[in-house]
Amino acid sequence: MLDKLQAIAREAEQLLGQAGDLQTLEELRVRFLGKKGVLTQVLRGMGGLSAEERPKVGKVANEVKARIAAALEARAAALKESHRAARLAAETIDITLPATALEAGTIHPLSSTRKEIEDIFLGLGFSIVEGPEVELDYYNFEALNFPKDHPARDMQDTFVISEELLLRTHTSPVQVRTFERTAPEVPVKIIAPGRVYRRDDDATHSPMFHQVEGFLVDTNVTLSNLKAVLGTFVRKMFSPGTGMRFRPSFFPFTEPSAEVDISCVNCGGGGCRVCSYTGWLEILGAGMIHPRVLEVSGYDSEKVTGFAFGMGIERVAMLKYGVNDLRLFFDNDLRFLRQF
Ligand code: DAH
Repeated sequence: MLDKLQAIAREAEQLLGQAGDLQTLEELRVRFLGKKGVLTQVLRGMGGLSAEERPKVGKVANEVKARIAAALEARAAALKESHRAARLAAETIDITLPATALEAGTIHPLSSTRKEIEDIFLGLGFSIVEGPEVELDYYNFEALNFPKDHPARDMQDTFVISEELLLRTHTSPVQVRTFERTAPEVPVKIIAPGRVYRRDDDATHSPMFHQVEGFLVDTNVTLSNLKAVLGTFVRKMFSPGTGMRFRPSFFPFTEPSAEVDISCVNCGGGGCRVCSYTGWLEILGAGMIHPRVLEVSGYDSEKVTGFAFGMGIERVAMLKYGVNDLRLFFDNDLRFLRQF
């Protein structure tokens, strides 16, 4: 029996030494050490041994078991190591090659223009507030003095979601949303940048664009305050010599209303193709906040007044950078975007 055990150990060691993969190792483990394995079968025969022989055989059997287990483990470790070495040898990474350069992006010109506008007004003591892009008809139109069938709604056709919900056509609704929170406190000095949506699409209009709304409410605010603030803005945004003029206009939520022009950034006012030989470029709408807008928002229009203005960020960026097609801002052509 002892001979048999030694023979098993030798056979196992020999086979394990030749095993070429982990699967074969596992099969050998089952064959020699498994519940129905060779060793177990030999030990079953121990019942027929004498009381003296039994412990001797038992001891050798345990030794053989340990030898096989150790051989299994050693072979497994060796196989794993050679697999690893083979994998590394097959890898063709040349660690001396230069790394792939990380491309640095640039700030989008509309973002930098928005930031520049924000910084100028922050410097004048305004705070930034944002409003929702999916807006209630009430804030986008009704509270701004555009009644349901008012023709001024036609100029701002938009994506309508339901009877009461739409994609906002301008940032002016932020005025009412803000006043509802602040009334009757003054002063209120806010700018509200953000996306707006209209049913428009050509070289100077896109269905989504950006505006910055500005408004100031206090006691004794007059049109001259509006002119002073906007004059400071255009001179900082464009150049110290930039001229500005107000043309009478109409917005339902301001009275009086004005269209504000700056002297042509290209010719300085002499007249050229950029300004259609007028010397002027329109950059924003503005006016004194209509008393009704103040009233629906909770202010006493006998006690406070305010001015408001709204400008398109794309338009300001086009004028500032001399871009003649607004769609370039949205095409994501890096050759264009990298220039800013
Ligand atoms: N909301 C107007 C528009 O999108 C722009 C505007 C005009 C805003 C006059 C104002 C304003 O605050 O006073 O056409």
